[in-house]
Amino acid sequence: MAQQTVQDARVEVDFDSAAPRIEPEVQGHFAEHLGRGIYEGVWVGEDSAIPNTDGFRNDVLAALQRLEIPVVRWPGGCFADEYDWRDGIGPREERPARINTHWGWVIEDNAFGTHEFLNYSEALGAKPYVAGNMGSLPAIEMGRWLEYMTGDLPTELAEMRRANGREEPWDVPYFGVGNESWGCGGNMRPQYSADLHRRYSTFLKAPPGKSVVKVATGANIDDYDFTEALMRDARHTMDAVSIHYYTFPGSWEDKGPATGFGRDQWASTLKHALRMDELVTNHVAIMDRYDPEGRVALYVDEWGTWYDSEPGSTPGFLYQQNSLRDAHVAALTLNIFHRHTRRVKMANIAQMVNVLQASILTDGEQMLLTPTYHVLEMYKPFRNAVPLDTQVETPRYVEGEYELPLVDVSVARGADGKLVVSLVNLSPETPARVATNLEGSATGRIITGPAMDTHNTFDNPETIRPAAYSAEEDGGRLVFDLPAKSVVVVTID
Ligand code: AHR
Repeated sequence: MAQQTVQDARVEVDFDSAAPRIEPEVQGHFAEHLGRGIYEGVWVGEDSAIPNTDGFRNDVLAALQRLEIPVVRWPGGCFADEYDWRDGIGPREERPARINTHWGWVIEDNAFGTHEFLNYSEALGAKPYVAGNMGSLPAIEMGRWLEYMTGDLPTELAEMRRANGREEPWDVPYFGVGNESWGCGGNMRPQYSADLHRRYSTFLKAPPGKSVVKVATGANIDDYDFTEALMRDARHTMDAVSIHYYTFPGSWEDKGPATGFGRDQWASTLKHALRMDELVTNHVAIMDRYDPEGRVALYVDEWGTWYDSEPGSTPGFLYQQNSLRDAHVAALTLNIFHRHTRRVKMANIAQMVNVLQASILTDGEQMLLTPTYHVLEMYKPFRNAVPLDTQVETPRYVEGEYELPLVDVSVARGADGKLVVSLVNLSPETPARVATNLEGSATGRIITGPAMDTHNTFDNPETIRPAAYSAEEDGGRLVFDLPAKSVVVVTID
């Protein structure tokens, strides 16, 4: 692909602006019992030849620890509304075998259950976000699961937890009341889902002195009626409402490949990723009508790319490669969340390992970090930072029917007072030179590659990784040279 002439963009930051800080939890993850996400990806069992600690594979655990993941949502997804938490406690050899009806019709042996998830969360230093079953278990079971995990009195459930090896109660700060009740979680209509939320959340009680954020399962994409019904009829019984949005370049039936795509699919993917802004804006507008003071948060608790599964991979396992294009989707999406900090307090990329837009891929003993992992790692300085209003004058990047900004920028003031800046060049062929009103010394990292689908493989796991980057100064102001298809994050001293 021929490199084109450099195009100029300009960024003007309003240093006096102030918005609610970027919650670390917008960099959250989602890990479902799906394909090789939990089994093989996270859990190999104590007897595995793959080096592990108490059954958790060491390489993945160490890589996730480096990411300092703020929160992990588990066990689904669609899996959550068929999951009986009682299947996943007690001696492993006595746990029942079930069918994972959603994902490949494979045996779920329940080796990874509540203790394993909460211990893993502790090992990661991540807050657990448990998604409960509103679709197929009685309401009281949601409360009982929470009591099992968090109860400190000598009740039957807390004693059961102690007998199963955990003396101290865990903290479970977030609890999802169902998942996708409009679809795999029960095919409910919005009104019915709102009513069920009211009923189930009534029985979800944190022990005195503790609290749990109750998250209502919410809309798919642009189903604004769903948000309307929940906010109108159930807002007093929730602390947050979720939406789910996946990015794919083609149609639901024919999404397109994860690698080996053309410029149209690159542009289509980024265009679809940018739609997150419109969706959040519109859902928030509904929330604002019912909750003008902004008490109820919006959690985008499933987002990411969804392509055709890799040829030869198990049907239903949603295993896909991850390329420079995914790095762009991750950066653009996080930048959108930075613009909506008043409501967007959590987001969970789908999914953590081996599934959809994964940060880590494994194959037997091998592991690789994806471009998405690197972007999430680069974005860590944005956690707790205060976003600043930023005007971006940018040329357009046009590809067939798709028109996008050439450059996307997010600027925030970190807790340490330093500015952190991300810049994305969306064009696969046009470099950009971005003039700013920023001063100082800007150093950080860049991720880019020779092809739109540059990616890591198990044979070449370091083909794409971040490199050092620094901005230039021109007349005392910082100027950023962005190669085509690149993501840059710097902090300014
Ligand atoms: O992440 C894969 C699936 O996508 C989840 O199980 C479901 O909630 C969504 O439709």
